[in-house]
Amino acid sequence: MPSTRAVEVLATAADLFHAAAEEFIRAARTAIGACGRFTVALAGGSTPKGLYSLLATNYTNFAWNRVFLFFGDERHVPPTDPESNYRMVNESLITKIAIPAENVFRVPAENSDASAAALDYENQLRRFFELKPGEFPRFDLILLGMGPDGHTASLFPDSPALDEKARLVIANWVEKFNSHRITFTFPVLNRAAEVMFLASGADKADMVRQILEAKNAPPLPSQRVQPTDGQLLWMLDEAAAAKLTR
Ligand code: 6PG
Repeated sequence: MPSTRAVEVLATAADLFHAAAEEFIRAARTAIGACGRFTVALAGGSTPKGLYSLLATNYTNFAWNRVFLFFGDERHVPPTDPESNYRMVNESLITKIAIPAENVFRVPAENSDASAAALDYENQLRRFFELKPGEFPRFDLILLGMGPDGHTASLFPDSPALDEKARLVIANWVEKFNSHRITFTFPVLNRAAEVMFLASGADKADMVRQILEAKNAPPLPSQRVQPTDGQLLWMLDEAAAAKLTR
């Protein structure tokens, strides 16, 4: 179970992004103060775009040279593809802040072999975190979104990656998209010092209630994110929190 679990509900999506940006910067300042760097894995999809844009505009002068950006998952497309999480983060954040190129670790998802791309990324993590065999990286913060089906990162219900216990990053076949995704595995997510979920909008309300209040057997992917020695924070707007009973 996570050391602490908190749920914050903000009135609007804009309030959610402001609160998430403040938490991001707080976590970054703490990590940089403690060990001179901040390692963060970003979420893809559309929700976090508002957070990334706010970080770019409100924290332009932050110590971005001490920040090391990774991606919790990526679509199996080139970085120029409209579906690419890297492209979304590059446009909303990376091109607007003074972060050295060598501080940004992009998934090489242009590789036609998704498994090779996942292994390449895993080796990037092993080198950066100087991992010994069997060790997992401990990110200072991992940002996650949640899909209406309860998936997170690219860990979809009933997909092969859910049972992976040894690898850090794998290629996951997602039937409904008829394509691979490249994703962190649960051992990496659950090793983080802090995981922050962002969920916004009424279309997420039913699943948010399920994830936070229901006992599903087997648990849905977003329910399986339980940092073993870290904080779990759910940041919601009122629309996404509307079905919560407590
Ligand atoms: C992705 C994300 C994915 C996302 C959820 C929610 O690559 O799409 O990593 O896990 O967080 O699908 O997406 P929205 O925020 O767009 O609803």
